[in-house]
Amino acid sequence: MHLTRLRGFQDLIGPDVRAVRIVEDAARAVAERYAMHEIRIPLLERIELYQRSTGETSDVVEKQMYAFTDRDEAETLLALRPEGTPGVVRAYIEAGLDRSDPEQRFYYGGPMFRRERPQKGRFRQFHQFGVEIFGRADAACDAELIIMIDELRRELNLELESQINSLGCAECRPAFRAALLEYGRAHLAELCEDCHQRLERNPLRLLDCKIDVKLAANAPTSLDYLCETCRRHFATVERLLTESGVAYVVNPRLVRGLDYYMRTTFEIVSGAVGSQSAVVAGGRYDGLVEALGGAAVAGTGFAIGIERLALAVAAKGAVLDGAPQVAMVPLGDAGLAAALGVARRMRARRLRVELLSPDRGLKALMRRASKIGARFAVIIGENEVAQQKAQVRDLAASAQREVTTASPADVEQLIDEILTAIAQT
Ligand code: HAM
Repeated sequence: MHLTRLRGFQDLIGPDVRAVRIVEDAARAVAERYAMHEIRIPLLERIELYQRSTGETSDVVEKQMYAFTDRDEAETLLALRPEGTPGVVRAYIEAGLDRSDPEQRFYYGGPMFRRERPQKGRFRQFHQFGVEIFGRADAACDAELIIMIDELRRELNLELESQINSLGCAECRPAFRAALLEYGRAHLAELCEDCHQRLERNPLRLLDCKIDVKLAANAPTSLDYLCETCRRHFATVERLLTESGVAYVVNPRLVRGLDYYMRTTFEIVSGAVGSQSAVVAGGRYDGLVEALGGAAVAGTGFAIGIERLALAVAAKGAVLDGAPQVAMVPLGDAGLAAALGVARRMRARRLRVELLSPDRGLKALMRRASKIGARFAVIIGENEVAQQKAQVRDLAASAQREVTTASPADVEQLIDEILTAIAQT
């Protein structure tokens, strides 16, 4: 019997892992440029954390949690994190920052777990790179997050669409909710099973129902009900995006599947990755810190779906070149010590070097050097050791020459030449 991976869980190998790395490296670099600080939080939390933040009526908590009872005396109910925001908020409160130093800018990354129906771009273990900003209630903060994602988009050379909406606040949401509820009740018989069931508890979800598309199209939207403060906030976000030259569309049916959002919400959508097209999503969640027992501090953030953005990167054909720049070819034990020494000097100069097995013949080793995509092969056998030399083969140009390795300066000279040749291609 073969042991296989679980459905919805992936092994990332070869080009897949390289596409993911491109996204992760770019996201981290952009976050650092926006003066954000890394935070690391646990994978396991009490299930209650998600019930009280992500929300009891969200699909994530209602249907998708990987939950189990711990074997301690209290039989605590635990859950693998389905998203990062609740854990970051908890950590922020637990560190006392909400009172001592409320304005904070965090980024984080890592695996998330949701028991969804797997399909292209949708997994049960996936990775997010997220950002959470606390203590900033101003619209500039919302706009800057969307500008930041646009910067990442440009860095990755992708075409993405930024969709934005405002869900209103505690002041104006009740009237909107009531209007939606009334609309839903009037069309009760036409609602899909999910919408029917959660209409009274969470009528907002009707707007992004994938089944009741026609009903949703005619339903009242939050933008029609915004209070003056929310209207101004949203207008400022729009103005700042326009002034920054960041394209966006207003999608009044963008309600998001998690319960904590208010005012600005957004999703960044790719046309290149199939039906699971939201590659980044986020929004404002003022009230969440307080709801989890902290001070009344504003919050806003987003999370990138790493695999989805990596799919968009792969669709563009971009690859992170992980091939060795040099294959070091020792012929027998005689060449090994010298080859190890040269390899060490090369690595000290940041060259990627793979030392091949000294137990195989030259022909097999040269086949290996081409297979792994090395640019240069440096061959050191018994003769070379005796004469303090090496054969250097440029595998791209199919040209071979002999160089001297008698002194450290000779080896540094060889490395200079290799670095120059690589930089020119
Ligand atoms: P979310 O929309 O649930 O928001 O997830 C954010 C992104 O994670 C999605 O847009 C998608 O790219 C990716 N994602 C979600 N589920 C899956 C899955 N099953 N497979 C692959 N990718 C997936 C949040 O999680 C919020 N915490 C975002 C946020 C941060 N809001 C404020 N701060």
